[in-house]
Amino acid sequence: MDRIKIIGGNRLNGVIPISGAKNAALPLMIASLLTDDTLTLDNVPHLADVEQLIRILGNHGVDYSVNGRRQHQDGAYSRTVHFTARQIVTTRAPYELVSKMRASFWVIAPLVARMGEACVSLPGGCAIGTRPVDFILQGLEALGTEINIENGYVHAKAPKGLRGAEFTFPKVTVGGTHTMLMAACLARGDTVLHNAACEPEVVNLAECLNAMGAKIKGAGTPTIYIEGVEGLSGARVKVISDRIEAGTYAMAVAMTGGDVLLKDARPDYLRSVLDTLSKTGLEIKESEEGIRVARNGLDIVPTDIETQPFPGFPTDLQAQFMGLMTRAKGVSHITETIFENRFMHVQELARLGAHISLVGQTATVEGVERLLGAQVMATDLRASVSLVIAGLAAEGETTVNRVYHLDRGFERLEEKLSNCGAQIERISG
Ligand code: UD1
Repeated sequence: MDRIKIIGGNRLNGVIPISGAKNAALPLMIASLLTDDTLTLDNVPHLADVEQLIRILGNHGVDYSVNGRRQHQDGAYSRTVHFTARQIVTTRAPYELVSKMRASFWVIAPLVARMGEACVSLPGGCAIGTRPVDFILQGLEALGTEINIENGYVHAKAPKGLRGAEFTFPKVTVGGTHTMLMAACLARGDTVLHNAACEPEVVNLAECLNAMGAKIKGAGTPTIYIEGVEGLSGARVKVISDRIEAGTYAMAVAMTGGDVLLKDARPDYLRSVLDTLSKTGLEIKESEEGIRVARNGLDIVPTDIETQPFPGFPTDLQAQFMGLMTRAKGVSHITETIFENRFMHVQELARLGAHISLVGQTATVEGVERLLGAQVMATDLRASVSLVIAGLAAEGETTVNRVYHLDRGFERLEEKLSNCGAQIERISG
């Protein structure tokens, strides 16, 4: 298993190109199941989760090619990928494929919308809480799907097709909103979604579906209107830039000091994060090219956060922010409201010398003068990168084990950081 070795203490200076967003690429790829035409996606990041979803889509009969060639011939990153679901060969998504990544469960929506049935294993993914799929299933039921759960599989049936409906999500859910958008655009009649997720990735999916011929209005607000259409066609759509990756590197610079341009980062996707980081003492300049972040010598100011759905502070940056706060000059409080078990990084950060106590869903972080390098273990995707951030500031050597978690969501992490002066390398095997 690969490890990442970091010798801490270097400032970061230079340019970090921000990749296409994993969390946007995945639902866009799944949308290719809705049409027998080709959906072309630009700026697709080269990540383990993308490769896994390619395998899952392949199981259903989706053919794909990268930059016009088969994928293994092409070492390029942030690629253009063509997906064609000319024929759906099976509507069954087996446990072996779906258990590796939660988002793969979302195939249930386009399959039932296009084929009138689907049989999808209950999902897996990061171990950050129970993460049920009840809202996704309630939404599909509202559109006329019959749902049965047997032997770990969800059997969804709508033999006469889906019909539009008004549906209110009991809680804001990104995956629930994605699946309802995909299902409702092929339903007969109109659908109104209330309490929908407003994340930029939802807007990216709605724009993709509209480019394919759907009639969706209001994406990016809590109320979305969808007028069902007979069928969808192909389209060409760009995956938006990864706000979580950009926020992560901004926090790395806040931690180490230095001056970095986050090329192609979108400030409008990161408003609450940038506001918070500027309170910690990070200098932030927005430009046409992206976001420039700098910190020179000043103390890190302790700052409290609470995670919230967009436009609030994202749960996917909570662990990284905690990494940063371990070196703040004073005490900060970090409250997680989205997932109930997203604090596995706490004990690993403690190995580096961090002082963190946990009561319920709030972590109290008492900043320390210095962190000391140690062996740590990546436990989930975002937690693992918080250890990298801490390692960049720790004295001596930090080894992050189980980096396959990082490979799920961060494209060329070591290269991007070492190009800016970090001492970081991957050790294979
Ligand atoms: C997506 C992101 C993930 C991010 C999360 C919250 C992708 C691929 N993943 O995950 O990185 O951390 O949004 O921003 O885009 N819930 C239910 N029942 C459901 C669905 C959700 O109870 O049927 C709960 C979840 O357990 C969680 C909350 O709702 O507590 C929000 O989850 P959701 O927004 O659905 O997360 P994902 O779409 O899985």
